[in-house]
Amino acid sequence: MAKLWGGRFTKSTNKLVDEYTASISYDQELAKEDIEGSLAHVQMLGECGIITMEETKTIQKGLQSILNKVERGEAKFSTDMEDIHMNIEKMLIDEIGPVGGKLHTGRSRNDQVATDMHLYMRKKTHTLIDLLEDVQYALLEQAKANVDTILPGYTHLQRAQPISFAHHMLAYFWMFERDKGRLKDSLKRINILPLGAGALAGTTFPIDRRRVADLLQFDDIYPNSMDAVSDRDFVVEALADCSLIMVHLSRLSEEMVLWSSQEFQFIELDDAFCTGSSIMPQKKNPDVSELLRGKTGRVFGHLVGLLTVLKGLPLAYNKDMQEDKEGIFDTVKTLEGALQLLAPILETMNVKKERMRHAVEKDYSNATDIADYLAKKGLPFREAHEVTGKMVLYAIESKKYLLDLDLEEFKQFNSLFEADIFEALKPEHVMRARESEGGTAPHQIEKQLKLAETMLHQNQ
Ligand code: ARG
Repeated sequence: MAKLWGGRFTKSTNKLVDEYTASISYDQELAKEDIEGSLAHVQMLGECGIITMEETKTIQKGLQSILNKVERGEAKFSTDMEDIHMNIEKMLIDEIGPVGGKLHTGRSRNDQVATDMHLYMRKKTHTLIDLLEDVQYALLEQAKANVDTILPGYTHLQRAQPISFAHHMLAYFWMFERDKGRLKDSLKRINILPLGAGALAGTTFPIDRRRVADLLQFDDIYPNSMDAVSDRDFVVEALADCSLIMVHLSRLSEEMVLWSSQEFQFIELDDAFCTGSSIMPQKKNPDVSELLRGKTGRVFGHLVGLLTVLKGLPLAYNKDMQEDKEGIFDTVKTLEGALQLLAPILETMNVKKERMRHAVEKDYSNATDIADYLAKKGLPFREAHEVTGKMVLYAIESKKYLLDLDLEEFKQFNSLFEADIFEALKPEHVMRARESEGGTAPHQIEKQLKLAETMLHQNQ
């Protein structure tokens, strides 16, 4: 098939070259964005008198009919036409005749592909923000239902202090809130129009870039045509934002894997979101959470991949930049899949309050409160810490927990102890006592819940 750029060539391209350089197998993902950009470009060409209004209408009708085919999944793309831009241009010419060849007036594939990527990134950034919000709603629901659910809080994966399960869920809520903030901020840099930069230096046609920006709802245009065609920072940024989202997802997933294990039994995941073993009939595996955790690797890989592609590239467009696509497409699909599953997994997860409560009875996670008790009675905290440490050692050696000691035993360690120590060491009290702002006391959690709800409603 004749190439759209075949004029200066005397031979046809080697078949392997065609296959090696073609991007149509994956950039067909951009079909709608490509047509959207072309519709705006041709409208501007007509309005500026670069082509006639009649030609504009014919081209737009042709593009619209190709768009319909794309939407119905009927568009046939070919490797001979290399990429999505030339496939669509070829289809247009086949559909409406030589006038279709006027579409590419005053533009290059370089500013065209950059525009497609901006349109794609804008659409997907909004999708990811919405999906993150669904997860936040699920976290909020679990938090609301579990303000009084006590479980051990961990540091170093060692039992540290009792906390509310709501507090734990909300910790993730705030991570995703920051993730959304980063995505929203990135829209400022995504929403800038490259089209009109031409191949790299601008164009000789009297185009109106601002009109195209208006039509495509971009906030501004790139002020430098060379930067416009060679900038992929916004893709790197999206990959970095997505990588951090994956960090958060993998941490939550890891906790879900741990919590659903026989050892913890803090939660039970709904059957609909677990899978079985082909050999061990008793198994119920948290496969989705594991895979969510595991898929972090490919997303980090795509980030490093694109950074490496761009490093050391001379201005302006280089074919290397075609490598920006598969990584971000895969990343977006990976995140969409993960977030779509995580929301219902969280919603349907069974929180085993009794097991969690039981766990804080059988540990020393109230030790800090002994030290705090003594410090409040005037003993310097460092000394109080030392005394408490000795008590913990004594309790462990006598095979008791701190609440099993009697007042006599307490007094042997320090005369400041009185009968109210027993109340102070109950897990409920230990949790309630953390009244400082942002702490795990129910009253503080209620404040957090309100704030979280306001944030979510603000975004609507
Ligand atoms: N398929 C190309 C890409 O994705 C489009 C731009 C090609 N430009 C060129 N001058 N070869 O980067």
